[in-house]
Amino acid sequence: MAVALLVAAGSGERLGAGRPKAFVALAGRPMLAWSLDAIRAAGIDDIVVALPAGHDAPEGCIGIAGGATRSESVRAALAAAPPSDAVVVHDAARPLVTPEHFTAALEALAHADCAIAAAPMTDTVKEAGPDRLVSATLDRTRLWAIQTPQAFRRAALAGALDVAADVLAQATDDAWLVERAGGTVRVVESTPANFKVTTPHDLRLVDHLLADRLSRPSAH
Ligand code: C5P
Repeated sequence: MAVALLVAAGSGERLGAGRPKAFVALAGRPMLAWSLDAIRAAGIDDIVVALPAGHDAPEGCIGIAGGATRSESVRAALAAAPPSDAVVVHDAARPLVTPEHFTAALEALAHADCAIAAAPMTDTVKEAGPDRLVSATLDRTRLWAIQTPQAFRRAALAGALDVAADVLAQATDDAWLVERAGGTVRVVESTPANFKVTTPHDLRLVDHLLADRLSRPSAH
């Protein structure tokens, strides 16, 4: 069985909402509540939440204090998690995640140490220097925009996180830590709908989408 680590300890400065991002209200509920619904609907009951200072764990979850960086929060959450074979890490900043994202990532662990939600690139991606001059146009057919959830064989994640703080600070996702430790990582196809709330515009959009979901009879 899997445990879930929900990282919610970021300050959310870019959002400018005056409180930690994971606790901003969306359609009447704190942002992290929407991810917790999806995790539980996927059948995962053991959930550790990395929290910002001054916030309590949601009911039924183990709460821990988040770290200085995202990966330090993940490492602290893993240390507090009950025993399991698999671990799935999710950013509270992606409240549109579905139960299927969790089950698909966990199922893909049959074929890799780590399996990550990822959307095929729809934009053309170019590389440019500080002078804004384009140096390359990348082959879009091989590019994926990486999201969470990210599922791991537990030993692979624990080993990958056992590195110095400066390495952890470089990680923009946990899968990279598994890659650099020589583990195998697979992408699991997702869609841009599972986007990360980063800007005030994202917040308005996700609030609208979740309110719309609640207003439908099939809402879950
Ligand atoms: O900053 P960013 O949006 O990339 O953060 C991704 C996720 O990591 C968010 O859900 C945030 O709450 C979490 N985080 C954390 N601890 C930190 C920094 C970010 O749990 N020190």
